[in-house]
Amino acid sequence: MSHTDPIRPLTRGIYTCLDNPARASYDCKAGYYERLVSTRWFNRFFWDTSRQDYQAFAADAILRSSGTVLDIGCGGLAQTAHLYRATGNDCILLDRSVEMLKIARARLSGGGRPLPAHIQLLQGDAFQLPFPDNTFDTVCSFGTIHLFDNKQAFVNEALRVLKPGGRYYFYSMTSQRKISRVFMSSLRLIHEFGEVYSVAQTVALFGQPSLQVKSYVIGSTVFIHGQKIK
Ligand SMILES: C[S@@+](CC[C@H](N)C(=O)[O-])C[C@H]1O[C@@H](n2cnc3c(N)ncnc32)[C@H](O)[C@@H]1O
Repeated sequence: MSHTDPIRPLTRGIYTCLDNPARASYDCKAGYYERLVSTRWFNRFFWDTSRQDYQAFAADAILRSSGTVLDIGCGGLAQTAHLYRATGNDCILLDRSVEMLKIARARLSGGGRPLPAHIQLLQGDAFQLPFPDNTFDTVCSFGTIHLFDNKQAFVNEALRVLKPGGRYYFYSMTSQRKISRVFMSSLRLIHEFGEVYSVAQTVALFGQPSLQVKSYVIGSTVFIHGQKIK
């Protein structure tokens, strides 16, 4: 796929920019994943976090920003659907998995209503975003960095489409606690996760001189946000 591939309708309310919108790894586990991450015990046991921790961070990105928002690897919006429904910002929610996007669509248009006009659901690849440089006022990606081996390429591509002066928000799972380390290393064996990074290694992905960076840790999750310098 090139950055100029046309964006075209795929299925009701969902667009694609992929030459070959074939199955993604999350397609076969979309429903299961979304149920799991919605449970209190999963987040507490494996990451020592709560859904409220994720939602408070996402609220800053989605509600307390202004302009255009891109969410990369948005999934089924388990933590964020209510925030996207509530925001007045124009939002593009991108994911490689059409099954995850269908769950997102159902959450956004509960009761069979049409999708809110300020939301676009787009099937695409996080490593080849179909947007020019400096497009979005806010770029966010929640629970994704740890999935990839080529983490720096992912972060660089996300920040490429962020405008100078724009804000970014990422959170990622890390090796901070032993249970998390064991869980992530086990999932890595079956190619579900990328190389397991510590908090410091994850924050270092944002070490470019063009970025202001802040971060904090809850349990094994590192929350990283900041601004691209004008
Ligand atoms: C762990 S889930 C996180 C979903 C959501 N952001 C959340 O916080 O619940 C990771 C998501 O990234 C998507 N994903 C994985 N690889 C991708 C890629 N190369 N491009 C776009 N999305 C991708 C998966 O389909 C999945 O929906």
